[in-house]
Amino acid sequence: MSIKLSLTGIKPTGAPHLGNYLGAIKPALALANNYSANYFIADYHALNSVRDPQVLRAQTYEVAATWIACGLDPDKVLFYRQSDVPETFELTTILMAFTSKGLMNRAHAYKAVVQDNAGKNQDPDFGVNMGLYTYPVLMAADILLFDADVVPVGKDQKQHVEMTADIAQSINACYGKQMFTIPEAIINESTQLVQGLDGRKMSKSYDNTIPMFVSEKQFRKTIMRIVTNSQGVDEPKEPEGCNVFSLYRLFATDEQQAALAARYRAGGMGWGDAKQELFELMNGFISPMRAVYDELMADKNRINLILEAGAEKARALASKKIVFLRKNIGIS
Ligand code: ADP
Ligand code: TRP
Repeated sequence: MSIKLSLTGIKPTGAPHLGNYLGAIKPALALANNYSANYFIADYHALNSVRDPQVLRAQTYEVAATWIACGLDPDKVLFYRQSDVPETFELTTILMAFTSKGLMNRAHAYKAVVQDNAGKNQDPDFGVNMGLYTYPVLMAADILLFDADVVPVGKDQKQHVEMTADIAQSINACYGKQMFTIPEAIINESTQLVQGLDGRKMSKSYDNTIPMFVSEKQFRKTIMRIVTNSQGVDEPKEPEGCNVFSLYRLFATDEQQAALAARYRAGGMGWGDAKQELFELMNGFISPMRAVYDELMADKNRINLILEAGAEKARALASKKIVFLRKNIGIS
């Protein structure tokens, strides 16, 4: 039996943050030890919202450097830019023919915009482009093109992977054969929803993120902005439900967690001290990765070479799949 494939993508829509790392990058890299792996930068998905060419280019490098700094080994993982695999867009066209409009109407991201418009008494379609509306189809093409078995993502992407499975199933049923592998989302329980500075889901859309690779000074400053209650230094504090503690937990050993929880409950520890503890723990973890990131960002040519090699390998696989599909649907 051939080895199973893990595949995931990240959009270059802003500086990668701890939610992206814990929810997507870290579990994906762990899976790469046991699976064959395709990880990529979903730059055409970002075009729905990033309209400044310089910004899109810069953010694409940021995401690429982040993956590598976090430990992606391009000799083991097939690493590429979505736009470098144009077969993706031909497959998107094929999938469109099998995707009901009703399925797209149910997509969370689209529904959220429609709901927001309703709340503001605006036309329901205000601000909805076809890229947003058909977003799940392009994502399905990313996944199905390589016959991915598992897709490591955060919880918010689960629905998209389910839609991908739906679309694939209807095509398999239509042709009475296995045209595509049916993918499954893999969601890491403990990090499926990393909280941001304000306790809501950490997200670029909420401007509450802790970006991974800013300077150490800026990193500390961001951590000091975590929202806490107004309890004074002397008051005993409850770790459960505290935004600082929730993030601490994601990096600390059981002993470290127990020790900090005891200091919370004893009183005499201010929020500044708790945040400093969190900063030191996270910074110790991130520092070595930051060094690799900074090196790569100073030598974009290295990133280009890695992505070019990935593109070549990815295209070879993708074009084979397209030949197979064309033959089976009667377009060849
Ligand atoms: P954002 O919400 O900041 O725009 P993306 O949608 O680009 O992030 O997410 C990229 C990947 O990171 C996805 O797999 C997503 O599920 C995961 N992810 C993003 N934010 C979080 C979070 N707060 N907790 C866990 N996973 C997350
Ligand atoms: N939609 C994903 C996100 O917003 C990014 C993405 C694009 C993706 N194509 C994918 C994730 C394919 C997994 C598989 O985070």
